[in-house]
Amino acid sequence: MKIAVVGSGYVGLVAAVCFAEMGHDVICVDNDERKVKALQGGDSLIHEEYLPELLNRYRNTKVLFMTDLAEATRESEVIFIAVGTPQSDTGDADLSYVEAVACEIARSLTSYKVLVEKSTVPVYTNEWIRRAIERNGVARSMFDVVSNPEFLREGTAVADFLHPDRIVVGADSERATKLLQEIYAPLTEGSYYRRPDAITGSCSAEALPPLLITSTKSAEIIKHASNAFLALKISFINAVSNLCEAADADVEQVAMGMGLDSRIGPRFLRPGIGYGGSCFPKDVAAFRSVAGQLGVDLGILAEVEKINAQQKKRFLSKVRAALWTLRGKHLAVLGLAFKGGTDDIRASPAIDLIGMLIGEGCSITAYDPAAIERAREKMPPSACLKYVDDPYVAAKDADALLILTDWSEFGSLELKRLYKTMRYPIVIDGRNLYEPKVMLDKGFTYVSIGRPT
Ligand code: UGA
Repeated sequence: MKIAVVGSGYVGLVAAVCFAEMGHDVICVDNDERKVKALQGGDSLIHEEYLPELLNRYRNTKVLFMTDLAEATRESEVIFIAVGTPQSDTGDADLSYVEAVACEIARSLTSYKVLVEKSTVPVYTNEWIRRAIERNGVARSMFDVVSNPEFLREGTAVADFLHPDRIVVGADSERATKLLQEIYAPLTEGSYYRRPDAITGSCSAEALPPLLITSTKSAEIIKHASNAFLALKISFINAVSNLCEAADADVEQVAMGMGLDSRIGPRFLRPGIGYGGSCFPKDVAAFRSVAGQLGVDLGILAEVEKINAQQKKRFLSKVRAALWTLRGKHLAVLGLAFKGGTDDIRASPAIDLIGMLIGEGCSITAYDPAAIERAREKMPPSACLKYVDDPYVAAKDADALLILTDWSEFGSLELKRLYKTMRYPIVIDGRNLYEPKVMLDKGFTYVSIGRPT
């Protein structure tokens, strides 16, 4: 099928190359000419597993990159809108990019099209898009607007897109529903999994993902409610980790015991320094705000946000407790990205903590396998902040080493070498990557989250 994807951020770009991988012909539109040129040249601009391979396989053949939305509209049957919906000052999602794209599509619409909301949007957005298009003089019979939220995670975006738990299609028209079913048929009917995968070259027998058809409003709420629920799960385990600390219990054991209950499940029960990234903080705020506008108080989410903010402060207290005073201390920091597997530093708790520690008079040498370049733009190096490209160089002569991102390489450091490199062998681990007993045996003072010290 001929598909257009508007926006080449995480969601748009991954969707574009994955649709090509599923056999469709895709036009990916972005109004940033520099970005379009880079993508045409094979530079994916973001650190994402398998993305470079897919981009190189399909760019300029099954995926065309361009700035011309009118042409993309003319050439496609279905148009996915995957532009940003950033947080505005009020906490609401700023939908001005979505509106602008909808109006531009309306102006070049000459035959029936399905517009698909792929961006995370609040309930009622579908209706607003419909109204915006009609206001531009397009007859209702000429288009449908479908809500098809995306659930991919950064770092595992390609795998998540091609192996989803479920596909949600919120549609009020049979014609549009059929087109969306056709697009996803390679996944829901399994033909995609029966042919060799473009990345691994092997076939993967899969439980086929269900395609759930809902109303447009339900689909919009499914997306916000899912993200808010996952954030709630994280804040819950973080709150429990604080209780474990007070009671001298082990949150890892507690999470395992809880997660073995299939009604709870083990995922998203990892305690840490709080959730970050471009989705959870923004979506929790937007969901609460839209509920408030509809007269519903989702106060539970205020608590989720409060615990999340406190978790960073608690970590700072741990650093203080381990080092006594902070002024003049030299710290090694491992991790800048908001989680492992990505170079994204948006709303990264690691970045917030570095700011707080510098504010308390510490000097920091930081290392991250992928996010240094982005961090450098946001927080340029200074007398109290240095970036290095090796974890052991970061640890050299440090008063303590802080683990702030759950990159897998941070969980397999050469401990002997680390011990010798540091000034004091103190490790404060915000991601529970080590067994406390192992660290103790190796001579470290080891502080982590929700576990007996
Ligand atoms: C999240 C959702 O997981 C995706 O399903 C969704 O599609 C996406 O938002 C989106 O709306 O676009 P993402 O932001 O990429 O994906 O990252 P997550 O893996 O969900 O992690 C978010 C934050 O929670 C990170 O800071 C991570 O370190 C933290 N986290 C996650 C924990 O602290 N504990 C956990 O157990 C899991």
